[in-house]
Amino acid sequence: MKKILIAGNWKMNLNVSEASLLTKRLQDRIALHKDIEVVLIPSMLDLQPISLQIDRRKFKLAAQNAYHKDSGAFTGEVSFSMLRDLVSYCLIGHSERRHIFNETLEEVQEKVAASFRNGITPILCVGETKTERINKETNQVLEDQMQSALANITASEIESLVVAYEPVWAIGTGDFATPDQAVAAVRTIRQSIASLYGNAVSKNVRVLYGGSVNPDIASDFLKAEGVDGLLVGGASLNYAQFTDIVDAAFEVHHDLEKR
Ligand code: PGA
Repeated sequence: MKKILIAGNWKMNLNVSEASLLTKRLQDRIALHKDIEVVLIPSMLDLQPISLQIDRRKFKLAAQNAYHKDSGAFTGEVSFSMLRDLVSYCLIGHSERRHIFNETLEEVQEKVAASFRNGITPILCVGETKTERINKETNQVLEDQMQSALANITASEIESLVVAYEPVWAIGTGDFATPDQAVAAVRTIRQSIASLYGNAVSKNVRVLYGGSVNPDIASDFLKAEGVDGLLVGGASLNYAQFTDIVDAAFEVHHDLEKR
């Protein structure tokens, strides 16, 4: 059985002491569970101190972004090779990077390759805008984002990949997708992987849902067919809410095991 993954994207929030306090509160409340991975995604500045604070059996770390070149004259950037050994995962292609910072499909592709090259598992974020959904372009957008991101990646690398389906219109808006919409999108994402690498590989890839996840809806998405976890933004900054979301994952996992 694949491990459920619950990731908290803190975005550009929390200074070092605030991040440390949130980490302490989460560490006190969240229990160790061998089948659930909890991933914290603090700012670049907070990664190093938090790496010294966390119990690594309970939490893994991810970066929110990195630059695809390993080193050189790229003022202001941090490379995947610098993040080796510090993080297990890196978000790539988050909608805020694609839309606010105009990150292109090619850049996302280069980042996915650099991430694998440096032993960091990408959490590849894909999703359609409101207009694309209204125009019934969702499947095409997801396929384009998947196919271009995964060019030049081997099947063995792909098996560890994590994809997050995050409809752009649901991020930070309180306007989440329905579980049925998530199931349909996740199916398209897996078909896209299957067309490149075959069905077996595509089944092993974990696909998360993200977009206005809160404790009230977490279980509905965790129970949805093909959804292997959640990428949480706003609610991950609130220790009580994030703990409740992780607890929901414990419960869903427990129910699945009993079946
Ligand atoms: P949100 O953010 O939960 O605040 O909508 C999700 C994300 O950006 O990953």
